[in-house]
Amino acid sequence: MKKMMILPIALMLGACTQTTTIGTPDKNLKAVEAKGVSQADGLISAIKPVLMQSLKADPTGASGMTACANAAMPLTDEYNKQLPSDSKVRRTALKYRNPANKPDDKDIEVMNKIIASKNFAPMVVEMNDSYRVYKPLPMAQPCMACHGDIKTMNKHTREKIKEYYPKDLATGFKPGEFRGVVVSEIKK
Ligand code: HEC
Repeated sequence: MKKMMILPIALMLGACTQTTTIGTPDKNLKAVEAKGVSQADGLISAIKPVLMQSLKADPTGASGMTACANAAMPLTDEYNKQLPSDSKVRRTALKYRNPANKPDDKDIEVMNKIIASKNFAPMVVEMNDSYRVYKPLPMAQPCMACHGDIKTMNKHTREKIKEYYPKDLATGFKPGEFRGVVVSEIKK
């Protein structure tokens, strides 16, 4: 009786951390996923305080735009230097702001799968000589200052977006929606 109760719970927990693979795995995928997710989380922890401090100082997001535009890439480069030589993290999105974060074909395919799955579980994908671990980023309320509706956005924030990113695609999101991913690429 006890066993029968435990099984469905174990299955439910399993579903929450489900890993989807494309291709044939030849390495312990769970270990790859854990490593990739922890590296992605590390990058988020490096960038988030800068974002949050700037929003605290100026809730409109206008000064945060400058802070983020100046800091996101150097922080990513800095973080990558601390990682083992087989790993590299980056950020991307379908509707991206920084052209340097433009997705490739595999990124687009995986992000569309994440959206279709309607859950924000990490996804592991096998490439020829590496694995990619995708950690989805949902939109939250604080993100709205800079990624929300362009029409109702603070005027100065809007101007900064136009100034730094004339081809910006990353507005019009709502809280809870899929915003993008951190990708950890780990060599085989
Ligand atoms: C203060 C303004 C600001 C806030 C708030 C903000 N962002 Fe951004 N975001 C930016 C800027 C500027 C960039 C482009 C610079 C970069 O990251 O390379 C960016 C880039 C990104 C990217 C990289 C892909 C791309 O579009 O270039 C993701 C993913 C992202 N933001 C998610 C979020 C999420 C999730 C939140 C909320 C937790 C958030 N952002 C809050 C300004 C902001």
